[in-house]
Amino acid sequence: MATVTLINNETNQKFDFDIIECTRGPKAVNFSKLFETTGIFSYDPGYGSTAGCESTISYIDGKKGELLYKGHKIEDLVKKYKFSDVCKLLISSELPSNEQESLAFDLELRHRSFLHEGLINLFSALPDGAHPMATLSSAVSVLSTLYYDHKDMEDEDDYQTMARRIIAKIPTMVAFCYRNAVGAPFIYPDVKRSYVENFLYMLRAYPHQRLKQTLNGEEEITPLEVEALDKIFTLHADHGQNASTTTVRNVASTGVHPYAAISAGISALWGPAHGGANEKVLKQLNEIGDVKNVDKFIERVKDKNDPFRLMGFGHRVYKNYDPRARVLKSLKDELDKKGIKMDTHLSEIAQKVEEVALSDDYFIQRNLYPNVDFYSGIILSALKIPTHLFTPIFVIGRMPGWCAQLLEHIKNPHARITRPRQVYIGK
Ligand code: ACO
Repeated sequence: MATVTLINNETNQKFDFDIIECTRGPKAVNFSKLFETTGIFSYDPGYGSTAGCESTISYIDGKKGELLYKGHKIEDLVKKYKFSDVCKLLISSELPSNEQESLAFDLELRHRSFLHEGLINLFSALPDGAHPMATLSSAVSVLSTLYYDHKDMEDEDDYQTMARRIIAKIPTMVAFCYRNAVGAPFIYPDVKRSYVENFLYMLRAYPHQRLKQTLNGEEEITPLEVEALDKIFTLHADHGQNASTTTVRNVASTGVHPYAAISAGISALWGPAHGGANEKVLKQLNEIGDVKNVDKFIERVKDKNDPFRLMGFGHRVYKNYDPRARVLKSLKDELDKKGIKMDTHLSEIAQKVEEVALSDDYFIQRNLYPNVDFYSGIILSALKIPTHLFTPIFVIGRMPGWCAQLLEHIKNPHARITRPRQVYIGK
């Protein structure tokens, strides 16, 4: 086994540490016994150089700009599979082998999509205008009181029921958050509609004219809209050990109910440095207001004395174009051609921001490219999804990933409670 040697110059002691092999990407030095053998800690704030676990779920090549789920390229999954197929892939490691299996899984999700009536009271108790991420995090935490029996995640049946239940219910919860926030009556799921169509239906339908008229005055949900949202969900399904996934794993490591860990992940995703960026991107594009203001705006972003950042740009892992952003950018253009009209004005501003940023030394030197959040908001707006639902849409997409990561953490015999150390510099 390959090793690295650490030399302490103060004491002249040498220590060998094993290098852990991997199937792709950088290997890691096993420092788990660093403190025991050397009496010192490793220091890595933000964990930029630290692997917290071994994983088989998703793989990111940050230099190439590549993302795989269970070995499948996201570009292929988006083209050939539905989001519900990708959910199956992530929670049970297998794509459906035929159309029947795919439909059976989608049907199971539809049937599980109803909410306990007790939970519905929670939405009504929260004020109009509550941010849906706060409501969602609370509602998922409450799910742990309704399904308290999900205790043994080592048991495959228990795990599958837990995962399918929350994947199925989360779109209903998001739709209820929205309807509660605008004071509209709740629309219950319609099992005749597919997983993704059902979500749009619950957002849009009028209670008494269910099939034709919607809150937006639209007639019906088109297959193109369903396909577009389906792809967006797939592109968000998993992404290595990002902040919210790490939160889910950390909280799960204490032995709590899985829905409590996922509720914590939702809170972590809310922040503007993470999933909350999609909402902020649209706000920023509106603030820029005109392509002629882009240069001035970029100057402000580059000012080191101003904490202001260009939202939807930059990533801890990608030092190249985020492959999800690439797919979203072409999806935006494709949908526009096929009839889902994008906001031309905002699209032009976004395009100009990208052009200016990608040819500017500040961005080139720091390898800052558009990330998944840069173009998603323009598409979601064209699907008439209100801005404050952008991050909840991310939650729906990420749910299978969180379930898979939670299970992987719990099943790992070497996993311990997450308990980092500190370098004490106080009195
Ligand atoms: N705008 C301007 N400058 C930036 C940006 C940005 N969006 N992102 C990074 N930088 C600069 C930093 O100021 C820093 O410059 P310096 O070296 O001169 O100090 C350098 O690039 C490195 O940035 P870090 O903050 O060290 O990178 P980190 O990996 O910690 O942060 C993050 C990554 C949080 C995504 C960051 O790029 C950012 O804040 N982006 C904007 C928010 C955003 O779009 N978040 C969504 C990310 S994708 C997701 O989570 C779903």
